[in-house]
Amino acid sequence: MRQEVERYDKPTRILHWVHLVAFCLLFLTGLVLFIPQLGFLAQDSWTRFIHRIAAVAFVLAPLIYIPMNWEGTKRGVKKAFSWGADDIGWLQAAPRYYFLGDESGMPPQGSMNTGQKMWWLIVLVFGVVFVITGAIMWFAKTTAPPALLQWMVFLHDIAFIVTGAMLFVHIYLGVIHPLMKESWGAILRGKISADYAKAHHAKWYEEITKGKEVKS
Ligand code: HEM
Ligand code: HEM
Repeated sequence: MRQEVERYDKPTRILHWVHLVAFCLLFLTGLVLFIPQLGFLAQDSWTRFIHRIAAVAFVLAPLIYIPMNWEGTKRGVKKAFSWGADDIGWLQAAPRYYFLGDESGMPPQGSMNTGQKMWWLIVLVFGVVFVITGAIMWFAKTTAPPALLQWMVFLHDIAFIVTGAMLFVHIYLGVIHPLMKESWGAILRGKISADYAKAHHAKWYEEITKGKEVKS
């Protein structure tokens, strides 16, 4: 029988699903404001209304999740910011690995590989940029100096372009790339096979199974 290890617990998967839906809505309703030719869709303001509702969900979800999972959140942030020699090795080996399927140069990875650390960092940094700039555009539209509002729109747009582009990479690697075949199951069911964990996250697998037998 296939042996499995837990990759993402239930609260983490729920947070991801809320963020997935909220972010897609924010992206699409943001796109309507960003591309002048789509402006007619925002005329009755319903896209702006959806943008605000999705923004509330986007902010509320981590505000509920973080206090409930304080230790896990701290661990995750620490990992995303901890870089070492194996991360440099990953960056060097990644093109041959992802484009040619050559695993020979790929160093062993922890629970997050270097690419996942980069996505975490993008989400953390630009998440804060979205919230601050979005809140100012929302609540201080009539009171803030026009130059400040211009800057907020500009920074919100930069965050939109960077996260939007990287989201496509995230989706491609998580759902389509043949080497990441158990990724989607990880976020759907929370589990991956022990073999997949060993192959993709060898350092983490060793850490969680030290002295233990992996249950099926
Ligand atoms: C997370 C909290 C967020 C808040 C509070 C927020 C709020 C806002 C507000 C108030 C506006 C101005 C809308 C208007 O003119 O009526 C706006 C515009 C926009 N938002 Fe957001 N937003 C958030 C996140 C996002 C995200 C995650 C994306 C895309 C991935 C996004 C993309 C955009 C875009 C492209 C615009 C149009 C800016 C322009 O006029 O060039 N927003 N947002
Ligand atoms: C359609 C949209 C999305 C899809 C299909 C998707 C898919 C996935 C999958 C399959 C994983 C598991 C990766 C693994 O451990 O092997 C994952 C992890 C993750 N996702 Fe998403 N996701 C989406 C949107 C988002 C959004 C909008 C955010 C942030 C706001 C996000 C943040 C993360 C983070 C931080 C992780 C953990 C680190 C990583 O594996 O990259 N995802 N996602």
